[in-house]
Amino acid sequence: MKRFEGKVALVTGAAHGIGKQIAKQFAEEGANTVIVDYNPETGTKTAAELSEIQKSIFARANVASLEDMQAVREQTFAEFGRIDILVLNAGIAFKGTMNDFTLDDWNRLIGINLTGLYTTVKAFYNDFLTNNGSIVYISSGSALSGTGGAVAYPAAKAGGEGLIRGLAKELGPKGVNVNAIAPRLIDTGEMMRVNYPTQADLDAVLKKIPVRRFGTVQDVANLALFLADKANSYIQGQTILLDGGRTIA
Ligand SMILES: NC(=O)c1ccc[n+]([C@@H]2O[C@H](COP(=O)([O-])OP(=O)(O)OC[C@H]3O[C@@H](n4cnc5c(N)ncnc54)[C@H](O)[C@@H]3O)[C@@H](O)[C@H]2O)c1
Repeated sequence: MKRFEGKVALVTGAAHGIGKQIAKQFAEEGANTVIVDYNPETGTKTAAELSEIQKSIFARANVASLEDMQAVREQTFAEFGRIDILVLNAGIAFKGTMNDFTLDDWNRLIGINLTGLYTTVKAFYNDFLTNNGSIVYISSGSALSGTGGAVAYPAAKAGGEGLIRGLAKELGPKGVNVNAIAPRLIDTGEMMRVNYPTQADLDAVLKKIPVRRFGTVQDVANLALFLADKANSYIQGQTILLDGGRTIA
């Protein structure tokens, strides 16, 4: 029997990048998946791709909207009749100084990266009171280091970690595991090209990573599945830094 057979895993921002890989590995391990994303083209394509492995549906939503997430809950139950795992992954990043950032920029980023956690958990909250499920949040090393873009991004990620710790205390007695992953320097393609445009830039940053490589989407997905797995249920309310040792170097 596969590790997540019979389970339903929902991943936000799963059309692309880290979220897509997490959803794919859940499918490979036997879970049915719900691909939540606001991009209908890539979302539909990803769900079709994953359905070759295990049943997967696309649910279009903006995670900043509670109404959208309540509709996702309806769609999930209409299709699968249950939910076991939430992966809170959807996020955006802008770069710029405090002066470059308007209040609208701030509100948009906080709406997706922080309020998006509230809306997702809120929509499924009552289900998690009885399902012995798992919730995994994809934070960022920048919650700790303050790097990774403008101030709103690390502020949202640090806020998300607070939410996760509160939720871990609240839902732990109900049998729900709630944890976070804080990745740094994950090579998803675009990020590398924007942040490190030349080979010299890449070489310079590599020298600062003790394991001498960038992280991969598989690294993040492996840890997400580990934290969602009830074999590891004594881990609760934690944020695991996934950074090749960069933060201690
Ligand atoms: N890539 C990295 O190095 C890195 C490092 C640390 C943390 N993270 C975090 O990991 C998560 C995934 O990052 P990624 O690099 O895979 O990003 P990505 O941009 O490749 O993918 C993000 C996905 O989220 C979707 N999305 C964006 N806003 C949305 C919204 N409002 N509602 C629904 N879907 C939305 C996008 O359409 C996209 O499919 C993010 O939370 C990011 O902050 C990434």
